[in-house]
Amino acid sequence: MIDRVTKRCFASIAVSLGVVIPSLAAEHAALKEAFKDNFRVGTAISTPQILGDEPAALALVAQQFNTITPENLLKWQEVHPQPDEFNFDAADRFVEFGEKNGMFIVGHNLVWHSQTPAWVFKGDSAKPLDRETLLKRMQSHIQSVAGRFKGRINGWDVVNEAIEDDGALRKSKWQQIIGDDFIEKAFQFAHEADPKAELYYNDYNEWKPGKIKAIKKLVQKLKSKNIRIEGVGLQGHWGLDYPSTQEIESMFAEYGDLGVKLMVTELDLTVLPDPGLRGGADVARRAEMRKGLDPYRDGLPEDVQRRLAERYAAIFRIFVKHANKLDRVTFWGVHDGQSWHNNWPVRGRTDYPLLFDRQLHPKMAFDSVIQTQTPVRK
Ligand code: G3I
Repeated sequence: MIDRVTKRCFASIAVSLGVVIPSLAAEHAALKEAFKDNFRVGTAISTPQILGDEPAALALVAQQFNTITPENLLKWQEVHPQPDEFNFDAADRFVEFGEKNGMFIVGHNLVWHSQTPAWVFKGDSAKPLDRETLLKRMQSHIQSVAGRFKGRINGWDVVNEAIEDDGALRKSKWQQIIGDDFIEKAFQFAHEADPKAELYYNDYNEWKPGKIKAIKKLVQKLKSKNIRIEGVGLQGHWGLDYPSTQEIESMFAEYGDLGVKLMVTELDLTVLPDPGLRGGADVARRAEMRKGLDPYRDGLPEDVQRRLAERYAAIFRIFVKHANKLDRVTFWGVHDGQSWHNNWPVRGRTDYPLLFDRQLHPKMAFDSVIQTQTPVRK
C-alpha cells in the first residue's frame, strides 16, 4: 500500500511535468472543447488535490477544463497566516499545473471579510488599528502574493463579497477601519502588483435587485476613477429552483452593459433541502442538522439526477445565449465529494452539486450540459 506521502510525491512529480493520467484522458467529451466557441470552462482545485492526494482528479481537470481557480490555497489565511510567514508551496504547484496545461489561471482572492487571519486587523495593545496601518498591510499582502505570480496568474478576484444582499456595503473590518474606499485601494494595489492581470469583483446572490444596483454603481465608480476592473464574477451557488431562469437572464441584461467581462466563478447546484438560509454563500451563517435535511446519504435517486440534469441544461442554454458577454464558467469543485456543500450550510451532509460524481464519473448532468452547446459567433 503506497502511503500518502509517497503518493503525493509521485503525483506532484506528475503534476509538475503536466502529465495527464492516460486512463482518464480520452474517456469522454471535454467541456472545454464543447464550449470553445462560447466561453472558457473551469473548476476550483482544492489544496489536497494540488498537493497530490487526488492525481486522477487532476488528470480529469487537465482533460476537461481550460481555466482553474484555487478553492482555498491563495486565501490570506492559507498563504499568509502570520505577518512574516508565507506558505507558497501549494500556490506554486497550482500555477505550475495551470501553465503546464496552457490554462487561464485565476487567483482567488486578495481581500475578503472571511478567512483573513486575526493579526491583520489587530492594532497594538494600546490602541485599535488605524486606517493607514491596515492599508499598508493590505498593500504589502497584495504586493507579496499577486507580485509573486506577476505575469503568470491571468486574473484576480481582487475583492470578494463586499456588498450585502440589499446593496449596503458589508460592515467588514476592512470597511470599518479603512472606510468605503478599501475596495478601490485593493484594485489599485492589485494593478500595481501585476499590471497585466485582469482584475475582478466577485460576489454571490447577484440576481437580487439591491445587489445589482450596488455592484453596477461600484463598477461605474471604479471606471470613472480610471481604476482598472475587467470583470464581475457571478459566483453561481444556486439550487434546483433558485434563482429562476428569468432572474439569471436578468443578470446578463443588467451587468451586460457595464463594459466589463461577466464570469460565472463558482457554479454548483445544491440538491439538498434548504435549512432556512435560502441559498447564498455566507460561510459565517450555518444551520444545525435535523431530520429530513440529508435525504440522499445512500445515493441520488434517478428522478433527482434528472432534475439536476434538466436544471443544468436550462442554465447552460442561458449561458450560451449570452456567450458574447460571458468570458468563463467555473464550477466550484471537480467532483461531488469535494464540494463545500457537503459541509455548508449544514455540516456532514451528502450533496451532489457538480457534473462528476465521487468516483469521477460524468453524471447525467454532464451529458445534458454537453448537449446544450451550439456555436455562437462572438
Ligand atoms: O485545511 C483545514 C484542515 O487542516 C482542518 O483539519 C479542517 C478542520 O476544520 O479545516 C480545513 O480548512 C477548511 C478549508 O475549507 C479547507 O477544507 C476550513 O475550515 C473551511 O472553512 C474552508 O472552507 C472553504 C470556504 O470557502 C471558506 O474559506 C471552502 O472549502 C470553499 O469552498 C469556500 O469557498 C468560498 C469562496 O472562497 C468564496 N465564495 C463562497 C465559497 C463558498 O463558501
